[in-house]
Amino acid sequence: MGENNFERKLLILSGKGMWHTNDCGGLYPQLLLSDGPHGLRKQDEGKKDINDSYVSTCYPTASCLAASWDRELVFKVADSLGKEAWNADVSVLLGPGVNIKRSPLCGRNFEYYSEDPFLAGEIGASFINGVQQNGVGTSLKHFAGNSQETRRMTSNSRIDERTLREIYLSAFENCVKKAKPATVMVSYNYLNGYKATENKHLLTDILRDDWGYEGVTVSDWGACIDIAKSVKAGLDLEMPSSGKAHLKKLKKDINAGSISDEELLTAIGRLEKLIDKYAAANRKDNSKKSVDSHKVALEAALGGAVLLKNEENILPLKDVKEINLIGELARTLRFQGAGSSHIKTRPQVNIIEEFEKAGIKVNFAPGYRVDTVKEDEVLSKEALELVKNGLPTIICGGLTDLAEGEGYDRKTLDIPENQIKLFEKIESENLVFLSFGGSPFTVPFMSKVKAMLHMYLGGEAVAEAAVKLLLGESNPSGRLAETWPFQISDTPAHGCFAAESNEVYYVEGLLVGYRHYDTKGIETLFPFGYGLSYTTFEYSDLSLSSKEYSGGEIKVRFKVKNTGTVPGAEVAQIYVENPYDGFARAKHELRGFEKIFLNPGEEKDVEITIGERAFSVFDTELNSFNISGGEYTVCVGTDIDHLILCEKLAVKGKDYVKEPAGTGLDVFIGKNDSNLDNVKPGEYSVYHSLGELSKKSSLGKKLMYSAIKKARSMYKGASDDSPEVMMMVETIKDGPIDCIILQSGILPYWIAEKIVKQANAKK
Ligand code: BGC
Repeated sequence: MGENNFERKLLILSGKGMWHTNDCGGLYPQLLLSDGPHGLRKQDEGKKDINDSYVSTCYPTASCLAASWDRELVFKVADSLGKEAWNADVSVLLGPGVNIKRSPLCGRNFEYYSEDPFLAGEIGASFINGVQQNGVGTSLKHFAGNSQETRRMTSNSRIDERTLREIYLSAFENCVKKAKPATVMVSYNYLNGYKATENKHLLTDILRDDWGYEGVTVSDWGACIDIAKSVKAGLDLEMPSSGKAHLKKLKKDINAGSISDEELLTAIGRLEKLIDKYAAANRKDNSKKSVDSHKVALEAALGGAVLLKNEENILPLKDVKEINLIGELARTLRFQGAGSSHIKTRPQVNIIEEFEKAGIKVNFAPGYRVDTVKEDEVLSKEALELVKNGLPTIICGGLTDLAEGEGYDRKTLDIPENQIKLFEKIESENLVFLSFGGSPFTVPFMSKVKAMLHMYLGGEAVAEAAVKLLLGESNPSGRLAETWPFQISDTPAHGCFAAESNEVYYVEGLLVGYRHYDTKGIETLFPFGYGLSYTTFEYSDLSLSSKEYSGGEIKVRFKVKNTGTVPGAEVAQIYVENPYDGFARAKHELRGFEKIFLNPGEEKDVEITIGERAFSVFDTELNSFNISGGEYTVCVGTDIDHLILCEKLAVKGKDYVKEPAGTGLDVFIGKNDSNLDNVKPGEYSVYHSLGELSKKSSLGKKLMYSAIKKARSMYKGASDDSPEVMMMVETIKDGPIDCIILQSGILPYWIAEKIVKQANAKK
């Protein structure tokens, strides 16, 4: 290859603008990458406001989709979204996110599926397949160990190898192997001492060598600082463009021999394949695909809603002509989360209007405001007066935008104080709680409500879906994909989640989510897998294809019958009880599931296949998954706390009685610190955050305050705790100086270097 051609090709390693790949002076057609994953957030280059994108369909967020436990439904949503992306000439849709929910406080949990890797991996694979069958690629994110938003760009996730493989990487592995995502998006954080984008163990040893991934790895937006180091570790594409700064440094590294042409050509080659396959300009037939996306969004909102309580079968509402509706969230719907997955969608019909459309008279009182957590006594009094009329009352509440969003974590498990105060005072016989939010929360007024229907963040059709479910036109069939704990102190990562330090130790190890509550016998508000229906189901005739197992697949067979009077869907869940012999294992683990639709009186034979992973542990000495022998119990249940039928299974395998070396966090002590905490002058670099540097550099301090001021002025009228402002401010403080300068789009790179120099010179 001619010298010039190689030089031109190098440009492909860094994006052009915010959303495109580089055309390398006409050498390649460009790829357009757009968010994802709850709808299409296609933005024109140059737009700064994250919410200013093209109008498109807003589907339910990931936490809601996962609660459907329905692979086909997720595939259908993704197919519809893939068609919208195709029609908009998008090459790669940035999603899905399959990170494991380590704590319910992660502000971005609404964008993730589950606390369980099997469920997250299955739902993720369906999503990828659904999008990609349309000729649009996906980006499996955020790879990996990105479980908190607090200092998401500098925190160092310290996860022992076994936990990493069994819990935090397993959903990624399933997606990579089953669905072959076109790209994998590499996260901002550090993992065990190495920035994820420079982490060879993650990007090459595991992703490519072990899992056989052949696609492209792309940095999360602004996560790449050093192209040569990153490419050497296994990164292919830096996004977005870093102007000339990073390419200039790359040239120096090439000249110094720090990276070979071969290494660079490997990354370039992978990008060329991606371009061949997904660039809109390469499409043979670019005709538009027809899609009834709102209908799909409605179906998904119905499928993901979870009925959490229904005393005296108060729901569905029968023969109602008039109701009271209390809560601002009935009028100002919350149906999606804030940040990069925010969809600019069509105007919404709210809950009040939907009830009216159904011919029901609504007496509405907002009761509280959503832009503050403070009680408004006038609104509160008005609502309390209204319910005195004795009509059936629905209170609408849950998490508001102030509580959760990208870029910041939740401070509390509670819903805003103004809602709690109001709902605790409400006196009404037949109270129904209709709730919204991307993550679990506490319900201190639970004893007051007869029913609770949780809609999650159900997308643009959430109000339509809620009213259909409340009136019984549709039967709830969602099941929780995450545990709802009673209190934050019960949660596995309590005390070590989003800690003060950049070093984040995953001390709970394998016991994440229900593995923690179930193994330790901690009671929960609602267990993993839980959800009610307007009908009832009965299980019978559990059998296993064999009583002994030494490898391959095993079939779990049973019957499920709808014993009630209305059609409905049941989610049959297979939990395997592990042998306990001194080797650390969770008590039960989810190993299979199936959603089954049944008419009244109908019975179906169900067969679920489980494979070797269900009986394996990651052996850190052998660096592979291996069957661990012993007596297992295979159960079918309706949630982790309700295992209905069980069968024993004798498993032949390795005799694991003690932890192999290299297991547990003690292996980290004194090793692989990210060097981002307690930095001393002389140690600062462009990897350090502006917040950290500004402690030592007057220029840094000045820049930080003026950038924050600018960010606030971009969202005029928005309060300091509005999600957009909070995300921007957190990023400015906690983002590496390299990223802050480059993403500003206007500041020259020497400012970053000067700030670092000043900090290093300070005594
Ligand atoms: C987010 C990604 C997103 C990207 C582009 C990042 O800040 O973490 O999930 O795809 O921005 O908007």
